[in-house]
Amino acid sequence: MDQPHSDALVFFGATGDLAYKKIFPALQSMVKRGNLNVPVIGVAKAGWNLDQLKARAKDSLEQHGGLDPAAWQKLSALLRYVDGDYADAATFTAVRKELGAAQYPAHYLAIPPALFEKVVEQLVQSGCAKGARIIVEKPFGHDLASAQELDRILLANFPESAIFRIDHYLAKGPVHNMVSFRFSNSFLEPLWNRNYIESVQLTMAENFGVQGRGSFYDQTGAIRDVVQNHIFQVMCNLAMECPARNDSESIRDEKVKVLKAIPAIDPKNLVRGQFRGYLGEKGVAPNSTVETFAALQLEVKSWRWDGVPFYIRAGKNLPVTCMEVIARLRKPPTTNMTEPGTPQNYMRFRISPEMTVAMAVSVTSPSGTGKREAVEMVASRHPRPDEMEAYERVLGDAMAGDATLFARQDYVEEAWRIVDPVLKAKTPVYGYEPQTWGPKEVDQSVLPPGGWDTPQQDEPEDFRIVKPSR
Ligand code: BG6
Repeated sequence: MDQPHSDALVFFGATGDLAYKKIFPALQSMVKRGNLNVPVIGVAKAGWNLDQLKARAKDSLEQHGGLDPAAWQKLSALLRYVDGDYADAATFTAVRKELGAAQYPAHYLAIPPALFEKVVEQLVQSGCAKGARIIVEKPFGHDLASAQELDRILLANFPESAIFRIDHYLAKGPVHNMVSFRFSNSFLEPLWNRNYIESVQLTMAENFGVQGRGSFYDQTGAIRDVVQNHIFQVMCNLAMECPARNDSESIRDEKVKVLKAIPAIDPKNLVRGQFRGYLGEKGVAPNSTVETFAALQLEVKSWRWDGVPFYIRAGKNLPVTCMEVIARLRKPPTTNMTEPGTPQNYMRFRISPEMTVAMAVSVTSPSGTGKREAVEMVASRHPRPDEMEAYERVLGDAMAGDATLFARQDYVEEAWRIVDPVLKAKTPVYGYEPQTWGPKEVDQSVLPPGGWDTPQQDEPEDFRIVKPSR
């Protein structure tokens, strides 16, 4: 069924950090591509007026990606602003007034989840919820129970088809690319299972700390911030079956099936770390035990993956910034052609900052010793300046009513179920030096066969096979 396109965008939290870093640049790109031509109503409680919001938006564009004078002029003409408290009905009366004749507004809650209930109630009471979509930011709750409560609030007022739970990783081109690569290359499918894959590693490394977000981060930690959402989404793309159809529900069904096959993580399979210096960050409790690093092992008890350990590692202040997945294939049998120590084959997917698909194969070393060595066949592409950023894609898709790139209720709740026991277990948090790969305890308790791979910061320049295929 054709979905009506949203005819206004209301965004709560318009003066916040996310709006400044991501939303205004995304809106400008949407205008530039001709995908945004409806009123954009910023809402916040800052004591500001429209001119101040415009000045902030302009500054945001100058700092994040660059101001495009023509697009900015159009965006500026679309901007409206409502200042007021989210608990005050007058704020929402003013929003309703700004909506004018709009019948299908999209309300984007770029605000802390604690405020969702209040805002949703007011949207309903003021008539702003009629015909509307609601877009919510992560974190969606802080554990299973709170996510269920948020779902109860949202679903009491909006149908699931009108709720768009953002996980911006889903909107990254290389994250989709993994799925299309898997299902459009027939050589991969026979290998992509427990018969050939020995283990899988997912690493999301950031070489910076909490960047002034101490008070948010200290309520969150690495597991809630990136494992339960971004990394699980990537893992589902890697592990899911090919959807029966191309519609959003068929795709999301397959992802949920992956999560359903994952038992809750056993606390003994988790190592938490905290970088030295974290306790001195603004907004962090002096005795905080929140993790800035997590390494864990889990299992996907499905026909395809049973017995293949999946390892996840995520952290702040690590040596590089990148996200990579390594799937190691089982070793070949030892024969007179393969002496012990023959390197294993693996597939490597790099999600960021570049997009890479690499396959490691074992070749005879040119040293003349007859030894084998691993070389990678690499296809890599650096992001292009005109590429669609994740936030542009999610906002555009939500306004068009396409839910494919959003987390469905059952997905979010399954993801929380998997991490819930480790969130509650209060396992020790071990210190690590900034710019290292986390605490040494990782190698004692969460160690993939063959060890952790060490992602590099830089990939080779763009690489393409120029010989035409036959
Ligand atoms: C956010 C987390 O969701 O994702 C941040 O809150 C993290 O802590 C960020 O740095 C990573 O996103 P990206 O797109 O920069 O890889």
